[in-house]
Amino acid sequence: DLFDLVDLLAERHALSHEEYRALVEGQTPELASYAAKKADALRREIYGTDVYVRGLIEIGNYCRNDCIYCGIRKSNANCDRYQLTREQILECCEEGWGLGFRTFVLQGGEGIVPIPEVCELVREIKSRYPDCAVTLSLGEYSRADYQAMFDAGADRYLLRHETADKAHYEKLHPASMSFDNRMHCLRDLKEIGYQVGCGFMVGSPYQTPDCLATDLKFIETFDPEMCGIGPFIPQKDTPFGDQTAGTADQTIYLLSLIRLIKPNVLLPATTALGTIDPLGREKGIQAGANVVMPNLSPVSERKKYALYDNKICTGDESAQCRSCLNLRMESIGYSIVTARGDIKK
Ligand code: 5AD
Ligand code: FES
Repeated sequence: DLFDLVDLLAERHALSHEEYRALVEGQTPELASYAAKKADALRREIYGTDVYVRGLIEIGNYCRNDCIYCGIRKSNANCDRYQLTREQILECCEEGWGLGFRTFVLQGGEGIVPIPEVCELVREIKSRYPDCAVTLSLGEYSRADYQAMFDAGADRYLLRHETADKAHYEKLHPASMSFDNRMHCLRDLKEIGYQVGCGFMVGSPYQTPDCLATDLKFIETFDPEMCGIGPFIPQKDTPFGDQTAGTADQTIYLLSLIRLIKPNVLLPATTALGTIDPLGREKGIQAGANVVMPNLSPVSERKKYALYDNKICTGDESAQCRSCLNLRMESIGYSIVTARGDIKK
């Protein structure tokens, strides 16, 4: 039965597409808590109760793309656009360093900051904080651009694949975007030597159990160092503004399955998960996740990075977010550590 399939996954870290689909379709509270226990046990074998923390700096919300689900899509005229200056970004890092962050994630809309500027910024951050890791999450670029950012010192790159089902991808993105190019980018990033993160939204419009089985199979074979998943949450100014959100329960269950597929993977309990359920991040950590990514962006701009509605932590100081997460993690018996938090292979 499905409990045996979970056992099999915990032993072999691989299943067939049909078996993944059966696990997705057969989700029950009992099966999910069974998978969560196994996932947490596996996570504890490798990472103990450590939770890695990443300082997320949302460097700007201008974007050349028009993803149907996303609040910062270029055709959203209601989006109040901003771009942090180099000095503002460096101030965020300085504050973050003092709060114990040893990874900075620079995330932003695609195609806005010229690559030479990104490279200069990465060089500056790495020279100021030689022991830190820099993660970039800036979208699709050419292999040469990715190589330049890597040579400047970037350690990791997050590029969610969004969905591993090409037909589904095309329902979530305009014709100007290409599934094949996204996959190509992910392969380039890996070949260059980045620690790479892929990921997808849970409960996005038109997603089926078959799509999710394809996502799980993709994670199994692509073998990412990181995997970011969170519920789809409608943003009112997008064409998907009236669609229903993904659920915390399904997201948490999928976190467990991903941990069983990739025992070592760096798996965040995301802000989106904390947004649809006030205890979502805690539940995610208890079900196999081992990373949290609080916001280090200037409070004055935070509300503007509105990928989806009702995002949490948009009014809190960075120091508050850090101590809030410390308390939240301690309350469930885990602790945030001051470390780069590289993958343990
Ligand atoms: N709901 C949830 N997640 C979203 N993202 C973008 N828009 C939404 C939304 N409406 C996610 C995408 C993207 C990441 C930065 O945020 O998966 O890769
Ligand atoms: Fe931001 Fe709790 S993590 S206030």
